[in-house]
Amino acid sequence: MASPTLISDTEPWKELKAHVEEIKKTHLRNLMSDSARCQSLMVEFDGMLLDYSRQNATLETMDKLYQLAEAAHLKEKINRMYNGEHINSTENRSVLHVALRAPKDAVINSDGKNVVPEVWKVLDKIQEFSERVRSGSWIGATGKALKDVVAIGIGGSFLGPLFIHTALQTDPEAVECARGRQLRFLANVDPIDVARNITGLNPETTLVVVVSKTFTTAETMLNARTLREWISSALGPSAVAKHMVAVSTNLTLVEKFGIDPNNAFAFWDWVGGRYSVCSAVGVLPLSLQYGFSVVEKYGYSGNIKISLILKRNMYCSNVFNRKFLKGASSIDQHFYTAPFEKNVPVLLGLLSIWNVSFLGYPARAILPYSQALEKFAPHIQQAILIELFYLLSVSMESNGKGVSIDGVPLPFEAGEIDFGEPGTNGQHSFYQLIHQGRVIPCDFIGVVKSQQPVYLKGEVVSNHDELMSNFFAQPDALAYGKTPEQLQKENVSPHLIPHKTFSGNRPSLSLLLPSLNAYNIGQLLAIYEHRIAVEGFIWGINSFDQWGVELGKSLATQVRKQLNASRTKGEPIEGFNFSTKTLLTRYLEASSD
Ligand code: F6P
Repeated sequence: MASPTLISDTEPWKELKAHVEEIKKTHLRNLMSDSARCQSLMVEFDGMLLDYSRQNATLETMDKLYQLAEAAHLKEKINRMYNGEHINSTENRSVLHVALRAPKDAVINSDGKNVVPEVWKVLDKIQEFSERVRSGSWIGATGKALKDVVAIGIGGSFLGPLFIHTALQTDPEAVECARGRQLRFLANVDPIDVARNITGLNPETTLVVVVSKTFTTAETMLNARTLREWISSALGPSAVAKHMVAVSTNLTLVEKFGIDPNNAFAFWDWVGGRYSVCSAVGVLPLSLQYGFSVVEKYGYSGNIKISLILKRNMYCSNVFNRKFLKGASSIDQHFYTAPFEKNVPVLLGLLSIWNVSFLGYPARAILPYSQALEKFAPHIQQAILIELFYLLSVSMESNGKGVSIDGVPLPFEAGEIDFGEPGTNGQHSFYQLIHQGRVIPCDFIGVVKSQQPVYLKGEVVSNHDELMSNFFAQPDALAYGKTPEQLQKENVSPHLIPHKTFSGNRPSLSLLLPSLNAYNIGQLLAIYEHRIAVEGFIWGINSFDQWGVELGKSLATQVRKQLNASRTKGEPIEGFNFSTKTLLTRYLEASSD
């Protein structure tokens, strides 16, 4: 596959650059009056509707973007990913998170070996283990059932599972399966996070899951040591075997830490940290929480209700395998097979490229109109921002990666700043900026059926209808705005007209999901994962490495050494600039008081 070094050297890129001038002459107010255009800019898949008619784009724009995708060899790159080629070239690895949710009979090779059987072996082990813990056949050191779980991990070993857990917490089906159990996440090295996570927990009934791909991450290992001490000081050192398990690619270090490798759940170097939620990283803690129904719900473990209990247990044990992973897998299939014009992740990726690299909008707001998705934007931020950090440390530019996958400096903006907050909360904070300040393309994500609908007596419009009224109104407010003429007609005082004018023409897209259960949540996750890949493939950058986080880590190691040397041997602070030295001196002096 002979591709030009930089996508910006291709004809389609240059044509899109020229096309921007045409688009700048249009306004969404006018574009939205063309119903045929709007209809063409909508796609349905598996009950979801993507409406991107409020993008600053015409059918011609879309054609040009498809040509760009062709010039970038997008389809070939997607195939190379699914074929297990080492597309993460700077780490010489395959990128196969799709294998984590592939059906049992699928064949996906990495380095000549079908990885699907290994994936299912670990899934089966998770199912067996979580069933034992939840049924009380795996008990703690003092003979009590383990009903609470603290998952320790950071970055990709935390944000994805937290997002899924938060989204499921109010799903009636999941609520039923989680009755009587707690799942908490300990991520920050800040001891406050430890305090928050162990407050109210009893070590006797707590299982700690240490989640770390490398098993070397400083924060996770310190938190793991802290909770190991919490357990062993309360129950004795031998209790660790019953109360701590691990998820990692590094089983040697797991054993060295003191966790029995039999109680470790593996994953593989072809799973990127931020793409690992469908591996044991997410599936183990989530199966422990939602895996299968709890006996306590019935307050009984004896004879007459046993068949009902077993039935429920079987039902709940499939929540993840059957629904969450299946949802993600449905998008994997769609992404792999659907033509670009009907391919949800491809369309989202192309529109991002258009907004960032051509229209020059560096940020993107992710605005779910569902409180259950409150941790979605933080998860996506991580997946994207890691790329930005790379740029900051390597080429000191601001938005996007600094170099192509071949190491050539990029002459265009790539990457975006993602942020977000569920509606309507966000409307009362940063939406002011979005409506009248900076232009920030928005993703509005709505759900037809609420997980927890409320219908107040005497009111026709449900609470969910009220939420969704905002979901439907905001995109139009952004697109149409409000003109001074309209304000004059409303008799607004002249001095207020500039303040009350909305320029409009602010792009957004709307994604309407039929409901929010484990299946749809899996779909949403996979859509955004693949969107990131599409962007990286077209920009010609490596979306799957994260060298940019290394510099900060190694500087922290130096500081840690210095703190240790100063505290234990009174050694002077050396090797730091004036500013850091002053700050460190103050910290050491004040904290030793
Ligand atoms: O700091 C970034 C990172 O390396 C992520 O890529 C990763 O998800 C996270 O740290 C945690 O790493 P680990 O799972 O190895 O502890």
